[in-house]
Amino acid sequence: MNLRLDYNNVIKEYVGEHGIDSDDFNEYKDKIASAIEGMKKKKDEGKMDFRLMPFVQDDVVNDINDYVESVKEKGVIDTFVVLGIGGSALGPIAVQQALNHPYYNELTKEQRKGCPRLYVLDNVDPEKIVNFLDIVDLKKCLFNVISKSGSTSETMSQFMIIEEKMKKVLDNEDELKDHFVFTTDKEKGNLVKIGKEKGYKMFVVPSGVGGRFSELTPVGLLAAAMCGINISELLRGAKEMDMACDKTNYRESPAYMYAIIHYILMNKNKKLSVMMPYSDRLKYMSDWYCQLWAESIGKKFDNEGKEVWGGMTPIKALGVTDQHSQLQLYTEGPFDKIVVFLKNERFKNELMIPEVYGDIPEINFLGGHTQNELINVELSSTEIALNKMGKPNMKIIFPEINEYYIGQFIQMMEIATGFMGELMNINAFDQPGVEEGKNCTYAIFNKPGYEEKKKELESQKKRTDKFIC
Ligand code: PA5
Repeated sequence: MNLRLDYNNVIKEYVGEHGIDSDDFNEYKDKIASAIEGMKKKKDEGKMDFRLMPFVQDDVVNDINDYVESVKEKGVIDTFVVLGIGGSALGPIAVQQALNHPYYNELTKEQRKGCPRLYVLDNVDPEKIVNFLDIVDLKKCLFNVISKSGSTSETMSQFMIIEEKMKKVLDNEDELKDHFVFTTDKEKGNLVKIGKEKGYKMFVVPSGVGGRFSELTPVGLLAAAMCGINISELLRGAKEMDMACDKTNYRESPAYMYAIIHYILMNKNKKLSVMMPYSDRLKYMSDWYCQLWAESIGKKFDNEGKEVWGGMTPIKALGVTDQHSQLQLYTEGPFDKIVVFLKNERFKNELMIPEVYGDIPEINFLGGHTQNELINVELSSTEIALNKMGKPNMKIIFPEINEYYIGQFIQMMEIATGFMGELMNINAFDQPGVEEGKNCTYAIFNKPGYEEKKKELESQKKRTDKFIC
């Protein structure tokens, strides 16, 4: 069985005038057909290499598993730390949260089946790193520095700080090799250079796979395998989903339908898309997805260079928690969004609510039901509430949450994002807005090669106190 996309509640018949109907699908028929062609062409021309990842990585999986075994055999490492940001961090966080024990780091080593604890440091807030160093023994840490470019200031500064600290606690610099592993481009960038010089183990981010599309490369696979997650199953799920999505009839492809529905609604002025999992395990999948969607489809220019200022803002929410926070706005606020629920059909535990307080019927009615029933009944109730107010919503259904279905979800969302790019006629695979921010930082810090940028920044209008209160 595969993940299913249930889009009944975006159809006008169910949700009313703010939904979509067959006229909408007809209106975009040609665009959809050319987007399907575009996907095929890009894949054949090697411009969508993330699609290949589930099919071509047998050797990579073996290399990762061998490395993980060798680390465990040495028995020194008890903490695995990812240093990375954006596409180099959100996937590892999301997969770990989805598949391992929610309190994984608090389990004993035996309970973790000999796997190390996992931390992902994805910010340069100095307090975070300093405080992190308070709680670990550096001599037992293995740092996975992940940066495709090998130049991102955040990641490189973390690496530089930690490598220096590590040198101070080790007996000799030769031991550094046991504490750093790089995941980076095969030949370009500073990490390759440093890694070769120092003899650090290195894994490759394939050159045709961009950061946010790289979870199913060593970027995500190494941390997952290190924490006992079956990465072959992740890739098997992704493979099945890829084949299930690669359809000429778009109605059979959950990824294409996901994008088409978003595209039609976006053109009806619904420019917000909320992802709301009803599962704590999937909470960080929304974070991962938000970056994928935002960075890929938020573009100033279309493929012909025309200014379009395109995009649809992704928003993360969590069911049921945000029923008591965001839902009022989603139901009675403006008609500006679609809500996408993630439903888990089979939780790993069943939790019965005891039949107590027979004298208080206002709470006794819950007794004899499970929290499993409660969470999914609350999801249905939220759907009903949104439908009643004419607010389009749809749901992705997980038969359960395991490696296979998480692999499916990742591939489905990546294909949907690529397809949305085709529908919008924009390049979903670059990120000039992100690069602009990176370049400004380089210029301010006087990085060689950024002199022109520095001049540009210096010529900008200065702030005035007049507008600060
Ligand atoms: O998706 C992207 O390309 C970005 O979010 C990058 O992943 C992020 O900027 C980090 O880049 P790098 O891996 O080069 O350090």
